[in-house]
Amino acid sequence: MTDERLDTVAIITDGNGRWATKRGLIRSQGHVAGAKRIQPVLETFRRIGVHNVIMYAFSTENWKRPKDEVDTIMKLIYKYLVDVVEDMIKTDKEFCIKFIGDLTPIPEPLKSKCIEVENMAKDRAFTCSVALNYGGRDEIVHAANAAHAAGHETLTEEILSKYMYTGTTPDPDLIIRTGGNFRVSNFLLWQGAYSEYVILDTLWPDFDDAAIMKAVGEFYTRSRRFGGLDR
Ligand code: IPE
Ligand code: IPE
Ligand code: MG
Repeated sequence: MTDERLDTVAIITDGNGRWATKRGLIRSQGHVAGAKRIQPVLETFRRIGVHNVIMYAFSTENWKRPKDEVDTIMKLIYKYLVDVVEDMIKTDKEFCIKFIGDLTPIPEPLKSKCIEVENMAKDRAFTCSVALNYGGRDEIVHAANAAHAAGHETLTEEILSKYMYTGTTPDPDLIIRTGGNFRVSNFLLWQGAYSEYVILDTLWPDFDDAAIMKAVGEFYTRSRRFGGLDR
């Protein structure tokens, strides 16, 4: 099933904590289980013709969590980059990764690793964008300041879009939220203007091919009008 209508997918990968709690495990174990889903999910989306997947790894609000949990998440992302992502980029000439968000407060050695991995390859056929210390409001303010600093006195939608962390990545056709909550949690506020939203009760560590097909199937039932009328 390939259709150019579904080019860019974004995912709010929510529910790791609840997945662990349900099993009598600590929340961190939910994050470990969640990390294991990343590669298979990317592969499935790629197989069905998607070119960009944007994943919400850590929000600008997630620093409010206990320090232990934040530390675990940062270590887990580092480990995933070293153990899995570096190999993916080396062995697969069609895969690259980029980070969206403000990396300034990301602790070392993760921050340097993110930059290193991003620089390994760019503009390949399939890109995974990882939203790390990402907030939609932060992004809009950052873009406005960056555009202003570059000498733009009057902003337009085109100019501002260019300065978003997402840069040339197309706006998502589909935004999936796992974990069942009907809210955007500061994700892609600018880019999601006309995205189709699909909310699944499935918790992120359980987000398998069946859940992906459910979300994609739902997407194809939608009539995207962008404010116009059905043709
Ligand atoms: C999402 O899962 C992962 C991150 C925010 C890093 P949660 O940790 O928010 O899981 P729940 O929502 O508490 O189940
Ligand atoms: C959104 O989930 C952020 C990520 C998936 C990284 P949260 O768990 O942080 O969102 P809220 O707190 O339920 O809105
Ligand atoms: Mg959550």
